[in-house]
Amino acid sequence: MIGRPIIRLDSVSSTQDILFRLAALGAGEGATVVARHQTTGRGRAGRTWVAPPGEALLFSVLFRPDLSPDRLSPLSILIADAIATTLADRFEIQPAIKWPNDVLVDGRKLCGILIQARPGIAVAGIGLNLSSRPDNLPEGATSLEAATGRTVNADALLNDLLGSIEVRYRELLEGGFDEAMRRVNATLHLRGEEVVLRDGDRTLQGRVQCVREDGALLLDTGGETRAIVSGELTRGPRSVKP
Ligand code: BTN
Repeated sequence: MIGRPIIRLDSVSSTQDILFRLAALGAGEGATVVARHQTTGRGRAGRTWVAPPGEALLFSVLFRPDLSPDRLSPLSILIADAIATTLADRFEIQPAIKWPNDVLVDGRKLCGILIQARPGIAVAGIGLNLSSRPDNLPEGATSLEAATGRTVNADALLNDLLGSIEVRYRELLEGGFDEAMRRVNATLHLRGEEVVLRDGDRTLQGRVQCVREDGALLLDTGGETRAIVSGELTRGPRSVKP
């Protein structure tokens, strides 16, 4: 069960590192590490993840899925959907999902997700800005309190998030996540827009079509539809901001 047990720590290098160590010692599926602060928080594509101490929900969840790696690939976008739907229900906001798995509010990044897999296990790390002032966050980021004007009960929110992650994960295992993918596409940031995709040294321009069932982004590059499995999107030069 996701969130059983929850291991709460004060300052750690990265909740990902701690959970991988616990996994090596035999921790079971669902084990979750939460920290108040990370000294070397990790982001996607080798970036760092920085959050002022005590101002973000920083947690990692261990999965031991009995699935082939290709069937596991929608996990990250399904976790993004779990987070977006929980925030929409609790705070009456309309988060958007930015492929591959960021959660945005009003075009600003509220939450980032990092999935790291090793044989037989996957660790999902989630960083959700709670109370920081946007000028104390990286450019383009926001926090839940800044976006809603409301004070957030972090423990209650974590509990709800873990509950919805559990639901999406069960849907993934059972192969019934069409509804979640419909929601992802309905709230997809940059859908229909011209974008630039950067993946290492490679850049590609195209128009965002949708996210496919396996989590790949379909990009219309002018006559050809390409299925993209990794990279970062920015608005393209010819895109008109709505
Ligand atoms: C990204 O958007 O680049 C992903 C950011 C993921 C950050 C979280 S915070 C909790 C967990 N521990 C880490 O070191 N990273 C993830």
